[in-house]
Amino acid sequence: MQVKINILVGTMTGTAQLCAQEMELSLDDGETEVATLMMDGLDGSVFEKERSRGGVFLICTSTYGQGDVPDNARALYEDLQAKRPDLSHVRYGVFGLGDRTYAETFNFGGKRFDELLAGLGAQRIGERHMHDASSGVLPEEKALEWCQDWLEKVRARLSQPA
Ligand SMILES: Cc1cc2nc3c(=O)[nH]c(=O)nc-3n(C[C@H](O)[C@H](O)[C@H](O)COP(=O)(O)O)c2cc1C
Repeated sequence: MQVKINILVGTMTGTAQLCAQEMELSLDDGETEVATLMMDGLDGSVFEKERSRGGVFLICTSTYGQGDVPDNARALYEDLQAKRPDLSHVRYGVFGLGDRTYAETFNFGGKRFDELLAGLGAQRIGERHMHDASSGVLPEEKALEWCQDWLEKVRARLSQPA
């Protein structure tokens, strides 16, 4: 079964982008097609474009400020919040990056997108991953392992009758 994955990257200093690049290399094998887009300049229409193709989204984002989405993700996040499009056709996963030293707002970037998309009717596949920069685990290595497991869940979900 052909699967199209669209990775949307929210990053401040490039770690999430590195994770997305590694995941694209690992997932893109002909049967799974991957497109990686930085969130810069995106708005809610990015989800509309996949309506007919049934593509799946992977939100790969870090956390900044006091539990905020990164600056390059802000326009997309705020556009979705303002326009509240129906995203019931969207299936997505979340690979979030953060740091547990920010105990009150750990991984809130991924959490905010997860809650917003779910509130607009989108269906998450798998659990939201919450990477911890102080754990000693390299995020790009965890991303490689996590994405293969997630892809299995995506394939299982897409093979179910609608
Ligand atoms: C100024 C600053 C604020 C941050 N705020 C948070 C936060 O509120 N919650 C959190 O979990 N991580 C926070 N982080 C940690 C980053 O999300 C984490 O280091 C991440 O791996 C950075 O990924 P990026 O390079 O893709 O932006 C913060 C980091 C910095 C430098």
